[in-house]
Amino acid sequence: MDNLEQLVAAAVADFSQANEPARLEEAKARYLGKDGSLTALLKGLGKLPAEERKSAGAAINVAKDRVEAALTARRDALREAALQLQLAAEALDVTLPGRGQAPGGLHPVIRTLERVEHLFRSIGFDVAEGPEIESDWHNFTALNTPEKHPARSMHDTFYLQDGAGRVETDVLLRTHTSPVQIRTMLAHVEKYKHLDTMPEIRVICPGRVYRVDSDATHSPMFHQVEGLWVGEDVSFADLKGVVADFLRRFFESDDLKVRFRPSFFPFTEPSAEIDVAFMSGPLEGRWLEIAGCGMVHPNVLRFGGIDPERYTGFAFGMGPDRLTMLRYGINDLRLFFEGDLRFLNQFN
Ligand code: PHE
Repeated sequence: MDNLEQLVAAAVADFSQANEPARLEEAKARYLGKDGSLTALLKGLGKLPAEERKSAGAAINVAKDRVEAALTARRDALREAALQLQLAAEALDVTLPGRGQAPGGLHPVIRTLERVEHLFRSIGFDVAEGPEIESDWHNFTALNTPEKHPARSMHDTFYLQDGAGRVETDVLLRTHTSPVQIRTMLAHVEKYKHLDTMPEIRVICPGRVYRVDSDATHSPMFHQVEGLWVGEDVSFADLKGVVADFLRRFFESDDLKVRFRPSFFPFTEPSAEIDVAFMSGPLEGRWLEIAGCGMVHPNVLRFGGIDPERYTGFAFGMGPDRLTMLRYGINDLRLFFEGDLRFLNQFN
């Protein structure tokens, strides 16, 4: 039966053209379905004379087996192709370089702060903290800073606004860490009010401070480390000893000079700037200012709840950004705050 051969060939061709399962099932229906051509032939057997029926039936069944085999083969091929496609889409290129999970590192200024804390803890200082959003009273008034002092002006200090956009002159971003002196004294006095003699206060306070200022050596946000030592006979000699010893240990060098240059701060009396000079290296012989300091003003002790007739103290405020620049030989302060990893990674 030639037309059976043709039918099988047509089915095989149809199947191979079906390039997705739904098309293949449609093609199958055309041959093997209820109204399919092979099905029609099988149904037609009954009309044949009995002597032809057997051989015709056998031939049709052979053709049907071949069509079914072709169908199964095509189904398998389509399934395999789909699988290959999916595998390709989901493939991982194991030869790509990894994304890497490099460990993070500390900012150079934070390294300095940790180093400063470590050195001061080793001589019996605690580390205190205070808020960056500070009251005018803690930042200025209690530090003996008069109403008309230029530091209180809008040009120098960031004040906060209320909801209606009005400047609140009694809330500001602290301009120095000195308000922590007041907070520390008040808390200390409260804590030990049951004792006749208050234990000494010995704290440093590292933190961020803010001023309306921006150039190569000034950033609107920078860091300070406040120091405060209050006790029954704390003197300027103690201040000199503590600071000079700290600087030698911080810079790991005995080869430096420390000088106390008379100055003025409303909250200390007498007051001084602390300068250092290295005796070797690129900055050899140059005096560099690194801190303000002095004996705590009696008014400030009083605002802190401490009797200035009985107790004395010294305070200093250092610039750890400056200390970091000197220690690592960095010449532009802004590098610290630009977030450039090429710069920052060098410290880790
Ligand atoms: N608060 C001063 C400043 O910011 C520094 C200072 C602190 C001076 C403590 C004396 C005593 O410039």
